[in-house]
Amino acid sequence: EEVNADGLYVLPGAIDSHVHFRDPGYPHKETWKSGSAAAACGGVTTVFDMPNTSPPTGTVEALQMKLKAAESSYVDFGIHALFGDDTVDHLEALLEAGATSFKAFVGNTFGNLPAPTDGCLLEGFEKLAPLGIRTTVHAENSSIMARRTSHLKDSGRTDPLAHLAARPAVAEIEAIGRVLTLAEWTGARVHIAHHSAADSLYVLRDAKRRGVDVTVETCPQYMLLNTGDMLRLGGVLRVNPPVREARHNQPLWDAMMEGVIDMIATDHAPHAPEEKTRPNIWECDCGFPGVETQMPLMLTEINRGRATIMDYVRWSAEAPAKAWGLWGVKGIVAPGAHADIAIVDMDRRGVLSENRLRSISRISPWHGRTVQGYPLHTIVRGRFVMRDGELVENAAGWGKSVKGVQRMPEPKVRHADTFVKAITDPEAAAREAAAAAEE
Ligand code: NCD
Ligand code: ZN
Ligand code: ZN
Repeated sequence: EEVNADGLYVLPGAIDSHVHFRDPGYPHKETWKSGSAAAACGGVTTVFDMPNTSPPTGTVEALQMKLKAAESSYVDFGIHALFGDDTVDHLEALLEAGATSFKAFVGNTFGNLPAPTDGCLLEGFEKLAPLGIRTTVHAENSSIMARRTSHLKDSGRTDPLAHLAARPAVAEIEAIGRVLTLAEWTGARVHIAHHSAADSLYVLRDAKRRGVDVTVETCPQYMLLNTGDMLRLGGVLRVNPPVREARHNQPLWDAMMEGVIDMIATDHAPHAPEEKTRPNIWECDCGFPGVETQMPLMLTEINRGRATIMDYVRWSAEAPAKAWGLWGVKGIVAPGAHADIAIVDMDRRGVLSENRLRSISRISPWHGRTVQGYPLHTIVRGRFVMRDGELVENAAGWGKSVKGVQRMPEPKVRHADTFVKAITDPEAAAREAAAAAEE
């Protein structure tokens, strides 16, 4: 099979760490087939799917249902299983059954999964730290948000900005700080999902300097949209966390350049158009599709000179490959690595349109936005899944789990202190305490 790549750029296929393909549970919003078709048409060759499906991916049985559904995928995939009070006792079983990683909803969002208690976070991190498995965290303080929401609802607010006010940046800053503290204490690997606020960047920067193994993603909406767009778009742009004031946009870019934010994900969170356009903001579902618009949006910014194409490759492919144990396998174009490739035309101009979305949920805050730079061909493990801008229909089912090739690097050995030993090795802890008493 040949294509003429004259004048085009050959990039590693994007790895999107954060998609909601809704399958099983919400086939009117998305399925594995439709979501992965959208990925293929967006130059995305690997996705990591989130566990807030129905049933939630927190039991071996539910995980098996998801793996079955994913058999129709066009692109390769990882599965983030649910980390919570109900699942923390069988994390190992979920890993054995095919989960690549975990997701903790530390903050209420679509699916209404209860936030893990801090005790549960500590215990789960202690279990996962020696395994080197990374946990993605949706970090927003539920109690701050619950109080704000009830005040705003009680006062009758139904306007777009009420949603923003209900989830202030401080809810994100607080939860990130808490998660990083527990990650540092336990040595666990964590990943901050959809980072939105400029104010918490210093917490992340400091944690990274101290050697906490934290990776961070942001999404195009947080870099490119803000409260002004919320006024214009209302429920269509309703998302958790919300887009913030314009003052947050540039610092997030700067943090990407600096490496405090490691990667771009999309938080592809499709909902049906009627679920996004209800008159009352509180009744509009949160989230919108993004897996197929990320690459044109970002390439447009590259064309504007805001970063280089190599920066983009680092954010879209290299950093996620490293974070999820796929380094040397995916995320680079090199001998021995999977031929996961996006061939892009940096000159092609167009207007993003809901009508052209592959996602079942054809509604998007990016509708009408002018872009320059499109993926034209997408190749997963050597096979075209998009060719000349068209989905290769019979490639459905070509995608497979990355569990078989995922290799997390060895975790750093952490010195177990006396308090941990008091649980794991009580006699050694008693000897240490006695020795301290003699000194
Ligand atoms: C996501 C969804 O719809 O599943 N919604 C969202 O607003 N981002 C859930 C999430 O990622 O918080
Ligand atoms: Zn989330
Ligand atoms: Zn999400």
